[in-house]
Amino acid sequence: MKFFIDTANLDQIREAQALGILDGVTTNPSLMAKEGITGEANILKHYVDICNIVEGDVSAEVISTDFDGMVKEGEALAALHPQIVVKIPMIADGVKACKYFSDKGIKTNVTLIFSAGQALLAAKAGATYMSPFIGRLDDISTDGLGLIADIRMIYDNYGFDTQILAASVRHTMHIMDCAKIGADVMTGPLSAIKGLLKHPLTDIGLAKFLADYKKGN
Ligand code: E4P
Repeated sequence: MKFFIDTANLDQIREAQALGILDGVTTNPSLMAKEGITGEANILKHYVDICNIVEGDVSAEVISTDFDGMVKEGEALAALHPQIVVKIPMIADGVKACKYFSDKGIKTNVTLIFSAGQALLAAKAGATYMSPFIGRLDDISTDGLGLIADIRMIYDNYGFDTQILAASVRHTMHIMDCAKIGADVMTGPLSAIKGLLKHPLTDIGLAKFLADYKKGN
């Protein structure tokens, strides 16, 4: 299972990278705005800064909603750095743009997936990744993890190569549930990743080992 961090915060990206378990980064316009990164030049520079911290794929989202605009923007993003993955919204022109990029060997991440039908279309268009937003489905009393399970079954039925990137992960249990279902990738906040570290018996056991060592020395 690949671990991506879902942020544009460079300190958090550095911290996850330093743990040695980071496989990539996802960003979106809201995450960029949250860090105060605005204006095209600053946003493009920020993508390069992120690529220089991590070794894996970095999703950079297009703002255009028409095919020609997405192609122009996506090509410029892909030219920024070899680690850039062009992130495209799940709309008709996005599906066309995804096919265009996959035919050209440019990596894609189809985003804002909320149904298995949309996931099927993304795979048919040759997406490298597609991102079902499980937290946002949970927010409206709909089963986000159930969607991941449905997509896993459909992709396995037909041997699609598109990777299921479980997105809008909100907490540590989401990561574990996605791992059990077989999501290829999860993207979530640093807090959810660090939650995997925690167990009180680990802390108690370590404290005892250290105390016993001190007794004998
Ligand atoms: C995915 O790539 C998105 O950036 C993200 O996971 C959305 O998460 P949110 O629902 O917490 O905003």
